[in-house]
Amino acid sequence: MEPNPIATPELELLESVETLPECDVLVIPIVEETELSGVAAQVNEQQGGWIARGLETGTIPAKRGEMALVPSPVAGGPAAILTVGLGDPDLLDRGPTFDLGATILRKLIDQPRSHVVIALGDAIAADRRDAFVAGAISGCEVQSIYATEPTTNPPDRLSFVGIDEASLTRGKIVGESVNLTRRLVNEPPNVIYPETFAEAAVDMAHETGLAVEVWDQRKLAAEGCRAILAVGGGSAHPPRLVILRHHGAGDDDPTVAIVGKGVTFDSGGLSIKPSEGMFDMKCDMAGAATVVGVMRAVALLKLPINVIGVCGLAENMISGDAYRLGDVIETRSGVTVEIHNTDAEGRVVLADTLDVALQHRPVAIVDLATLTGACMVALGRDTVGLMTNDSTLCDQIAESAQTEGEWAWELPMFSFFDEQVKSKVADIKNVGDGRWGGATTAAKFLERFVAGTPWVHIDIAGPAFAESPKPHRDAGATGVMVRTLLRWLQGE
Ligand code: BES
Ligand code: MN
Ligand code: ZN
Repeated sequence: MEPNPIATPELELLESVETLPECDVLVIPIVEETELSGVAAQVNEQQGGWIARGLETGTIPAKRGEMALVPSPVAGGPAAILTVGLGDPDLLDRGPTFDLGATILRKLIDQPRSHVVIALGDAIAADRRDAFVAGAISGCEVQSIYATEPTTNPPDRLSFVGIDEASLTRGKIVGESVNLTRRLVNEPPNVIYPETFAEAAVDMAHETGLAVEVWDQRKLAAEGCRAILAVGGGSAHPPRLVILRHHGAGDDDPTVAIVGKGVTFDSGGLSIKPSEGMFDMKCDMAGAATVVGVMRAVALLKLPINVIGVCGLAENMISGDAYRLGDVIETRSGVTVEIHNTDAEGRVVLADTLDVALQHRPVAIVDLATLTGACMVALGRDTVGLMTNDSTLCDQIAESAQTEGEWAWELPMFSFFDEQVKSKVADIKNVGDGRWGGATTAAKFLERFVAGTPWVHIDIAGPAFAESPKPHRDAGATGVMVRTLLRWLQGE
C-alpha cells in the first residue's frame, strides 16, 4: 500500500506580468473595493477591462477573503483568473497571510492544473511573503492520502510574482516541513509505529545532512530507558528513541533541545480508552512529528545554532507484557514512578526522553506532546498550553507563537500542584489527584525530569489534530507549532 506522495510543486519566481504568462490560473489581488491598482490594474488592461467592470457591478467580490475564479475571455495567457480580496494588506499578519496562501491553493486543487501563477507578492508586506509561500505549499496537503483516486490535484508548477528569492526559499522549506509533520501524523498507526517512524526520521536526516541516532529496544535497555520500555511493553512493535542533531554553531556554543512525545498509537493500555476516544489516537505522536519537521527546517535553513531533537517512540497497547496499574518503574534518571493509569503514558515516555536530552547539556528544553484531554478542556481545540519553570523562556515561545499567528496560552505551575503527583509507594505517580488541573499535574510530573534546566512544555493535544476542515486546511493533522518553534530558534 503506497500513499499518495506529498505534494512538491515546482516553485519559481516571475519578474512581472507585463506579458501575461501562459498558465491555467493567474491569481491577482483586489486591494481596494472600488478601484484596481498595481498588478490587478495591469492584468485588467490586458484582459480588456472585464475585471474592473465586474468590480463595479459586484460580480467580482472585493471584500477580504472573497474570491472569484473566472475563465479568461482573452485568447492566450492565463486560462482563468482568480481574484482574491485582500482588504487592507497591512492588516494581514503572518498567521492570516499563511492561511491566505493555503486557502488559495485549496481552492485550486479541486481539479488538475499544471501551472498556477500567483501575482500577489507586491500586495503582501515584504516580511510576510515567506509565510504566504509556506501557506500555499501547506494548502496542497490533505488527509486523504490513501484514496486510490487522489481527491485533490496539486499543481505541478507554482510561480510567484513580486516575491524575493529569500522569501521563496524560506517559505518552501517551512511549508514542506509543516507538511512532513502533518504527513507523519496523518499516516495510519499500522503504517507508522516506532520502527517506521524512526526510519522516516533517518531518511529525513540523510536528505538534510542532520546527524541521527536510533536506539532500538536493546540499546534502550542498556541505557536504562525502562519507562519507555514499560509503555511499549504491551505492543508487538517495540519502542525506539531517535536523536537528531544539527551542528550549526561551534562546539563551545550552547545547544537547545526539542523533545517530542511519540506514542504512535494510544489505546490507553489496560486503562483502555472507549472507542470514540481511541479513534484519533494515531495523532499521539504529533509531538515527535513536530520535532522531525522542525529539525528538517533547521537543517535546510542552515540556522547558525546547535539543536538536538529527541523523539520518544512507543505504542501503548495491551498484552500479557503490558505495563500494569500499580507497577513501579525506575526511570532512567533514577526517579521512581508508580503507575496509577496506563493511559497517562505520555509523561512516562517523556520522563526518559527528557533525561536523554539532558545528557546533551542543553541551555533550554522545549517539549511537545499531545499530553492531556484536560488541556483541551481548559483552552479549547485551537490553543496550545504552555507550562514552564522559566517565565523568560516561556515568554519567548509565546511571542514567537503570536508572531506566527499560532494560538498559545500559559497555564499555571503553582507549587501546590507538586503535592498532587506524590506517590505513597514511589517518588511520584503518573496522575494527579482527580481530574482537576490535569494539564498542570502532567507538566509537574515532567518537571521532575528536567533538573532545573530552563524548560517549556507545550501541550498540543487540542490543536495537533483537527476534527473538521477549515478553508485554509483539511481536517486531520495541522503541523501546529512548527512555525512557532522555527521563529523562536531563529531568535527573532
Ligand atoms: N494521548 C492522550 C491525550 C489526548 C487526548 C490527546 C485527546 C489528544 C486528544 C493521553 O495519553 C491521555 O490519555 N491522557 C489522559 C490522562 C489521564 C489518564 C490522567 C487524559 O487526558 O484523559
Ligand atoms: Mn493516553
Ligand atoms: Zn497519549
